[in-house]
Amino acid sequence: MALNFDKAKEILERNGQPHVLRFWDRLDNDQRKALLLQIEGLDFESLIRMKDMLSDNGTKSSKSDIQPAEVIPLSAAKEPKAAGAGEDAIRAGVVGVVLVAGGQGSRLGFEGPKGCYGIAPITNASLFEIHSKKILGLENKYKAKIPFYIMTSLANDKATKDFFVQNNYFGLSEDRVLFFVQGMWPALDKDGKIILDAPGRIFMSPDGHGGILAALRARGIFDDMEKRGLETLFYFQVDNPLVEIAEPAFIGLHRLNKADISVKVCSKRDPDEGIGVVVVKNGRNAVVEYTELTKEQKHARLPDGELKFKYGSVAIHVFSLDFLRKEADATIPLHVAHKKVPYCGNDGKTVKPDKPNAYKFEKFIFDVIPDARCTINVEFAREEEFSPVKNAEGSDSPATTRADMMKKWFRWFELIGISIPRDTKGKPRYRVEIDPCFALVPEDFGKKLGKGFKITGDVLLR
Ligand code: UD1
Repeated sequence: MALNFDKAKEILERNGQPHVLRFWDRLDNDQRKALLLQIEGLDFESLIRMKDMLSDNGTKSSKSDIQPAEVIPLSAAKEPKAAGAGEDAIRAGVVGVVLVAGGQGSRLGFEGPKGCYGIAPITNASLFEIHSKKILGLENKYKAKIPFYIMTSLANDKATKDFFVQNNYFGLSEDRVLFFVQGMWPALDKDGKIILDAPGRIFMSPDGHGGILAALRARGIFDDMEKRGLETLFYFQVDNPLVEIAEPAFIGLHRLNKADISVKVCSKRDPDEGIGVVVVKNGRNAVVEYTELTKEQKHARLPDGELKFKYGSVAIHVFSLDFLRKEADATIPLHVAHKKVPYCGNDGKTVKPDKPNAYKFEKFIFDVIPDARCTINVEFAREEEFSPVKNAEGSDSPATTRADMMKKWFRWFELIGISIPRDTKGKPRYRVEIDPCFALVPEDFGKKLGKGFKITGDVLLR
């Protein structure tokens, strides 16, 4: 039975949040229904943990003792034996792909789901198109079926699905593209009170990519994965068009090592780069987010001058399905950030604050790592696989990402002995774009292109 006013009042009073109903008398019927639905969906157990965190004075950051984690170096990361094992798993249909795309992309200043952002240098194909075509390329290459699971949030779920429908799922089979919505959490003020952003509305935002565990369970996705016979899941973030989705050697290393979770890592660009680092903490593997490292930890050097915490995780993982399913029952830590959140004043008007007034909480997927029986960290070459679109300008912006995409493809030409026309400053004269369905890796590219190809203008291969 749906929640009624009296029951809602009782629950809220019990949880120290009676103010949520303070504008009840001035709400119309629809607003009342919507508010009751929001109250019904609140996760009061997590709310207690959030309030406890605030009374602890914010995050318990990683001032605890951490040491650098072991990493499988690049030289061993592409072993033919591992690649073979990965290819076998893909052919056998036990590999699925999971994309987290529920975030808000506010730094980029793009309205709408970040995956719809056009990034390909010539066609302006979107991030979603590039990712989907990589999966299609793998399905074609290995004659395999690879289910593609996409986590959205209430803010972008409809727009994301519409985009895939309008684009015919980019050639993927519709029954293998599955969307599921992550949970939302309220924000709290400094006294631990839920914030309303309108008289009848609780301000809510996505519960972090760690919310994927609860969402996979609540939306029946674990069952779907099992029904399809999946064992191994490749996991990645929406903003990186260079990602090598379900790269066979990475999948193979994970499976040969019988790992629960595998983490791709690369050298940090500089000590302050905004990526989490792989560490051993209390004897367990872990990732510590950049916001939770002290300045000393970020800048610490080894005697040879190398950064002590040199290897960053860029959120490219492989999970075993069994492990993830078990972790859905675990309690993972919360992370808090002090943010600006619109709130409803006593007169019922929405106020946009000019400084942080609220605490937002999130779960991070990498917090499952300490629970894993076996974790492997695998080095990759950053210029080949990582160039995210995060900011509108400067570093990690559309301009740098497009340039990195083209540099990668130009290297493919050079590998097979085709020269790149350049200007006097060494800059390529033309643009290049290679559709993932044309080739996923340089070896396939060489075979497909054949000898005698010459670059005389922009090159678009698809
Ligand atoms: C993230 C990682 C960082 C990593 C870096 C690499 C975290 C906390 N930090 O930073 O360690 O090195 O990317 O690019 O993850 N998302 C959801 N739901 C949410 C929140 C985020 O699906 O509630 C998704 C986003 O859509 C995106 C990804 O998670 O695909 C990362 O989110 P973002 O906010 O961009 O993380 P960063 O701070 O860039």
